[in-house]
Amino acid sequence: MDRNTAGERPIRVGVVGIRRGSSFISGATETVGMKLTALCDTREEKLQEIGQRYDVTVYTDYDRFLEHDMDAVVLANYFHEHAPLALKALAAGKHVMSETAACKTMAEGVALCRAVKQSGKTYMFAENYPYSAACQELRRLYLTGEIGDVRYAEGEYNHAMEEDKRLSISPGSMHWRNWCPSTYYCSHALAPLMFITDTMPANVNALSVVEEGMQSPHTLKMSDLGSIILVRMDNGAVFRLWGLMLSSIHRIKYEIHGECGYMATAAPDHWSTVHIHHEEWLRQPGKPNDLTYRPDWPEHGDLARQAGHGGGDFWMNFHFARAIRSGEPPYLDVYRGVAMSAVGILGWRSCLQDGAPFRIPDFRDEAVLSAYENDHWSPFPEDAGSGQPPPSIRGLVEPSPEALAHAREIWTKQGYNGE
Ligand SMILES: NC(=O)c1ccc[n+]([C@@H]2O[C@H](COP(=O)([O-])OP(=O)(O)OC[C@H]3O[C@@H](n4cnc5c(N)ncnc54)[C@H](O)[C@@H]3O)[C@@H](O)[C@H]2O)c1
Repeated sequence: MDRNTAGERPIRVGVVGIRRGSSFISGATETVGMKLTALCDTREEKLQEIGQRYDVTVYTDYDRFLEHDMDAVVLANYFHEHAPLALKALAAGKHVMSETAACKTMAEGVALCRAVKQSGKTYMFAENYPYSAACQELRRLYLTGEIGDVRYAEGEYNHAMEEDKRLSISPGSMHWRNWCPSTYYCSHALAPLMFITDTMPANVNALSVVEEGMQSPHTLKMSDLGSIILVRMDNGAVFRLWGLMLSSIHRIKYEIHGECGYMATAAPDHWSTVHIHHEEWLRQPGKPNDLTYRPDWPEHGDLARQAGHGGGDFWMNFHFARAIRSGEPPYLDVYRGVAMSAVGILGWRSCLQDGAPFRIPDFRDEAVLSAYENDHWSPFPEDAGSGQPPPSIRGLVEPSPEALAHAREIWTKQGYNGE
């Protein structure tokens, strides 16, 4: 696995971050040709518990972890701290799979692309949403020409969440979930559209959405709850990305409008059902003009069905292992990963300039990279200083003492006593 790795030495993998990382930990199995060998997290108690469960070596220090004898690392640490850890891992000769985002600044994106190229190691961006049965079927159909060339598409990822629940997974007023601007986590909306249509982002403009009722002075969330992002793709199509954490509805949804038809994910869950439509005059002889069905995965459905995020989690370890074994870059390579992060970063620049457009550079083209190699523009609190942007279109909002006290109560209950 490729289920045909019998006799081959398993890829020895270590995972950083034991919350989201738990999916990569349980998925590092013999069936995908992996063996979990080490774990790293700064939360020592929980780390020991998981380390014992899987019988692997544990580290609280990332540099020591990298000295462990292993082939590959999976980065599931904080959202905005992946690139520095990826650079160290590549320098230590490890293959890297990184959770989203690939980078928090354009300069990090440049450094990452150069380091992957120079190292010759495999880098995979762990975007699981394109790998649901529905999205894989839409890609298959799209590539057969079912709806012609894409002209417009919509991608929606809206993780509506009760505020107390959100606070419980965002411990500390500086936690990335409290600061991350509304455009940065755009890959769950964008990646499936890129995957289905095989296009790359070329231009971005965006507007940020504030929900006053849910925000200051009632919450510690420094950033806005959602955004609308327009992306002009490299084939001229326009993609609209929508959502993040707006309170209206918890949903994912993807739709592609082509020159001779329409295809989309469909209710009830948008992971497993597809809807194909052709207007009557565009219908091909012998084919229905409207069809809704539940496709299976192209292979390994028995394993994908047991995995999280519509089966997408299974495919992350699978494709990472396959890319390492074959030496061929995975579909979600460093260039696609960094381009998605650039949509988030430059989309935020756009929000702060009321929707002004920004060009997404081609990170494969060394000639354009020098313009970005010193671009350290960042809204995260550890980078605060002259010229740095706020995390919200409201500016830098001071949380109220009541909001802080309420958040501390929630964090204390779960054992977090930091600021
Ligand atoms: N693809 C998906 O479906 C999906 C779902 C959830 C989260 N994520 C992504 O996964 C990443 C992690 O998300 P999360 O919800 O687990 O975040 P989290 O903040 O809850 O957990 C991060 C973990 O990393 C650990 N950590 C941070 N820095 C570290 C370091 N330098 N060394 C060792 N350990 C360190 C923390 O102690 C914590 O346990 C984020 O990038 C998030 O965007 C993706």
